[in-house]
Amino acid sequence: MKTIIEPFRIKSVEPIRMTTRQERRRLMQAAHYNLFALHSDDVLIDLLTDSGTSAMSAAQWSAVMRGDESYAGSPSFLRFEAAVKNLMPFRHVIPTHQGRAAEAILFHLIGGPGRMIPSNTHFDTTRGAIEASGAQAHDLVIAEGKDPAALHPFKGNIDLAALEAFLERHGEAAPCVMLTVTNNAGGGQPVSLANIRATADIAHRHGKPLIIDGCRFAENAWFIRQREDGQSGRDVADIARDMFSVADGMTMSAKKDAFANIGGWLALNDDGLAEKARMRLILTEGFPTYGGLAGRDLDAIAQGLVEIVEHDYLAYRIRTNEYIGERLLALDAPIVQPTGGHAVFVDARGLLPHIPPLAYPGQALVCALYETGGVRACEIGTAMFGRQPDGTEKPAAMDLVRLAMPRRVYTQSHADYVIETFAEIVANKRQIAGMRITWEPPALRHFTARFAPLEAA
Ligand code: F0G
Repeated sequence: MKTIIEPFRIKSVEPIRMTTRQERRRLMQAAHYNLFALHSDDVLIDLLTDSGTSAMSAAQWSAVMRGDESYAGSPSFLRFEAAVKNLMPFRHVIPTHQGRAAEAILFHLIGGPGRMIPSNTHFDTTRGAIEASGAQAHDLVIAEGKDPAALHPFKGNIDLAALEAFLERHGEAAPCVMLTVTNNAGGGQPVSLANIRATADIAHRHGKPLIIDGCRFAENAWFIRQREDGQSGRDVADIARDMFSVADGMTMSAKKDAFANIGGWLALNDDGLAEKARMRLILTEGFPTYGGLAGRDLDAIAQGLVEIVEHDYLAYRIRTNEYIGERLLALDAPIVQPTGGHAVFVDARGLLPHIPPLAYPGQALVCALYETGGVRACEIGTAMFGRQPDGTEKPAAMDLVRLAMPRRVYTQSHADYVIETFAEIVANKRQIAGMRITWEPPALRHFTARFAPLEAA
């Protein structure tokens, strides 16, 4: 059969409250045109993030009931640890309340002033943890990874020559090498198994551990199976094992590819470092057999890790985003190509060329998506990155809007509805005005800044 169906039935539903365009216009005005300020009840299709928004399965909810809340040595921890080690064969698995907690512990231990950490592209929270420790984060993704229109099967790959040169020059300062799979900040693009292996070789030749940020490891493994020579037909779980077996540690947000609503972990092979990480964990998260989690969360993750590598799920997952991407391109709405694993990234600057970057085309597009269809998406552009340390304003490298797809939550007709919303926007795009900022906080302004449409200035 050609139709790829959602490989699940729905037993429990959450109603979506319908709103009118007029209502949404009023709500958006009250939120000062910042969609983070909306109540999620007022959103029809919420594509703000794929993090923590997954629908858990009946088996996961059963596992929640089995959860054992003992302070120490809970069987839930042992099930969680076994499920992680089954796919990621590291010696030590340290639970945390989410991904950034694992990053904070790691870089508290190996970061610090004068240190430099190379990666394909650090996600914001990773960069934040590195910089908070006084170290520097360096992004060395291949050139194609920075060009939205470049077609390359593994746009998340790290530039191996640049990594080699970096370690020759700054080897002393680098406590590790990192890889983010898939590369979220670069459009959800995968890293090939060959690139992971070559990165491990280079790191190990320089005496450095390779740490993988594995948030979307199953999507990455699926792309390897689809696109890499010699990998087709393989079991995704085996590919995942191959990805992690050459690494020395990982950070993870279970809110992505573990189908959990909360959770994460830090895994390490180095006994001494793991010991220090557990000490830090006790101070900041909790006892080493629960981290920042309840026993029931650990059991939900253990079951989620079984389900996330199922081929029928991954085929449906990746195809949903590819389908939206294809339809947007057919509407002449430019996107980052090829479509990423967890999201479609729309090039708002390309779609709305009449809005200059300093009038925030990405913010204008997320507001238009909400007003037109009640769809909530996230601006990743000049509103997020435009403010310079000296207080001036500069266009970001790109003005993107991320449509991040929650896992197992929306159906084909929801995808078609999002496409129809875009069709209406494209047809009337000249009427979409740029935005200005009326108030902003000193840092991380995109979460709370207030905007106004330029015509209303
Ligand atoms: N690494 C990557 C690649 C991520 O995408 C995220 C979170 C984290 C680490 C941090 O994990 O949220 O559990 O602390 N990304 C979310 C997103 C927030 O919307 O892309 P966390």
